Amino acid sequence: MQTIRAVRYHSTGDPARVVQVYEVAVGEPAAGEVRVRMLWAPINPADLNMLEGKYGESRPLPDVPGNEGCGRVVSVGGGVDESWIGRLVLVDRMAWREEGNWPVESLIAVPAGIDARRACVLRVNPPTAWCLLHAFADLKPGDWIAQNAATSAVGRAVIEIARAKGWKTLNLVRRRDAADELRALGADAVVVDRPEAADEAVAILGGTKPRLGLNAVGGVPATRLAGLLAERGTLATYGAMSKEALKIPNGFLIFRDLDFRGFWLTRWLRTASPSERDAVFDGVFHLASRGCFAPRVAAEFPLSEVASAVARSGEGRGKVLLQLTM
Ligand SMILES: NC(=O)c1ccc[n+]([C@@H]2O[C@H](COP(=O)([O-])OP(=O)(O)OC[C@H]3O[C@@H](n4cnc5c(N)ncnc54)[C@H](OP(=O)(O)O)[C@@H]3O)[C@@H](O)[C@H]2O)c1
Repeated sequence: MQTIRAVRYHSTGDPARVVQVYEVAVGEPAAGEVRVRMLWAPINPADLNMLEGKYGESRPLPDVPGNEGCGRVVSVGGGVDESWIGRLVLVDRMAWREEGNWPVESLIAVPAGIDARRACVLRVNPPTAWCLLHAFADLKPGDWIAQNAATSAVGRAVIEIARAKGWKTLNLVRRRDAADELRALGADAVVVDRPEAADEAVAILGGTKPRLGLNAVGGVPATRLAGLLAERGTLATYGAMSKEALKIPNGFLIFRDLDFRGFWLTRWLRTASPSERDAVFDGVFHLASRGCFAPRVAAEFPLSEVASAVARSGEGRGKVLLQLTM
């Protein structure tokens, strides 16, 4: 047994109040497991929702938060090839800890050339963007996609993937000052998400209507986004940052036959075949190795300051990263 520090929460509520650092004992990795010394983890909206008790599924408490993170394999259990030792890997849950044991089949190995701080944000948001862009429409070069919350990590990944594929993006944002940074990533158009946005977007699109809209806001902004779509287009909802329900005018269904779909990466990963999963992560790592998906870092905190880190992450304007060990 070894004693390590891990973040835990014993009840749900205000995220900054429910997280605490504990000393916990970790045994040797069992058969089929590896021991990972964790290095970096981002704080994502899903982590905050989980701590609030407002996520799509709950876990037995006490629990270690952290839906993604990157670490290095330091030892292996029975039946696991020793070539895993020394490799950087992405874990999918209970990431906010110094060390832990994970089933080897749950890990994603990071290719050489991507360091742990860059890699720690690659397990959730870029694969979500990749799936959203590939699952709901057969996009051709030059096709437009429209999305809201375009400044988010998913939104930025959508822009970078679309640019690599030759698809154009119309990006709705809350902040006018976000336009330059999104254009630098490859955004074709950036529009402030307000009542006038629909007319501005129609003028930019010049008669073209996107067949795919990606919604991470909900409420009135989602209705506005759906209003831009082509007849029989798809609005894929994957987030609800405003916490407002979708409002769908009857005419969107009757006259325009819009398709309203949802996407949850967790479910997708549970049902995807190994080759489907590999295809997504190969695509993500290929673009990451060319410089895409660099985290827009708002602040970094050590594990011991997790409560401050969680409080800061609720303020937005980039990702807060936890440095779990040096
Ligand atoms: N379904 C899935 O499988 C899946 C996977 C990954 C992520 N997600 C979801 O995708 C969304 C984005 O995640 P992320 O990690 O990319 O986020 P992030 O990088 O932390 O960015 C948050 C985004 O939400 C915007 N925002 C915050 N509060 C808002 C509000 N009240 N109304 C409108 N926009 C608001 C922010 O705009 P500013 O830049 O203006 O602050 C920013 O664009 C979250 O809802 C997350 O849960 C879902």
